[in-house]
Amino acid sequence: MSIALIGGTGLCRLPGVDLTREEVVTRWGSVELRRGTWHGREVIFLPRHGASHALPPHRINYRANIAALKAAGASLVLASSAVGTLSPDIPPGSMALLTDFLDLTSGREHTFFDETVAHLDSTVPYCPTLRAMLGSAAADLGIALRDEAVYACTNGPRFETPAEIRAYRAMGADLVGMTSVPEVTLAREAELCYAGIAIATNWAAGIAGQPLTHGEVGEMMAQRLEELQHLLGRVVAASQPLDCPCRHALDEYSSAPALRRLAAGQA
Ligand code: HPA
Repeated sequence: MSIALIGGTGLCRLPGVDLTREEVVTRWGSVELRRGTWHGREVIFLPRHGASHALPPHRINYRANIAALKAAGASLVLASSAVGTLSPDIPPGSMALLTDFLDLTSGREHTFFDETVAHLDSTVPYCPTLRAMLGSAAADLGIALRDEAVYACTNGPRFETPAEIRAYRAMGADLVGMTSVPEVTLAREAELCYAGIAIATNWAAGIAGQPLTHGEVGEMMAQRLEELQHLLGRVVAASQPLDCPCRHALDEYSSAPALRRLAAGQA
């Protein structure tokens, strides 16, 4: 069993470890993963935006990424992302676990199941077992971590308008970002346990009354990076194979073996 770490903005490498590059070819595309031992466990690291942060959110090959992690033997995925915040309970600089999402993206390849009928439940879109592990790791470390947040996923690459943010707030969003969807839904199709850890880097557009910059997102991420790495390290160190409902998402389908091949990127 391996634990995959998907590093969002600001998390481009894991500290204190030399990881080996590994090219994984899937029917959805090729992905360069990094593999090694971190906190005593086998980990697979995938910088979501590429090693030099050159890939914008709408151009990420989410299908290839998730299929490659599945094919490489991952069963748990811890994914970090920088977000704007709409919630006074999650001010900039704080961290939150994602529990639900609004999908405002368009034009993204969002499923492995294009030529077959499979409707997966999304009642609990983020893995509750991993979320509990993250919550207790944060408590052990004395890290403040809000345990519930609704993520509005926009297409980007532009930031939102103030009117959009007011609308998303009225729709129930706490946070806004550009990458958690379809990553999380593809992970469920691949029967991976997937947790989303959000780092609030800025007030969402129109809330602070000043324009947003990409620079401020990077600066806040840099400030929170060490704490994020501690949290991830603690969960990695404590991780064990899980028998979680996420791992059985396809059980009800008689075509499950074929669906599983698709989600692992096999031809
Ligand atoms: N909007 C969308 N994505 C983001 C933001 C934001 O305000 N901050 C960091 N990622």
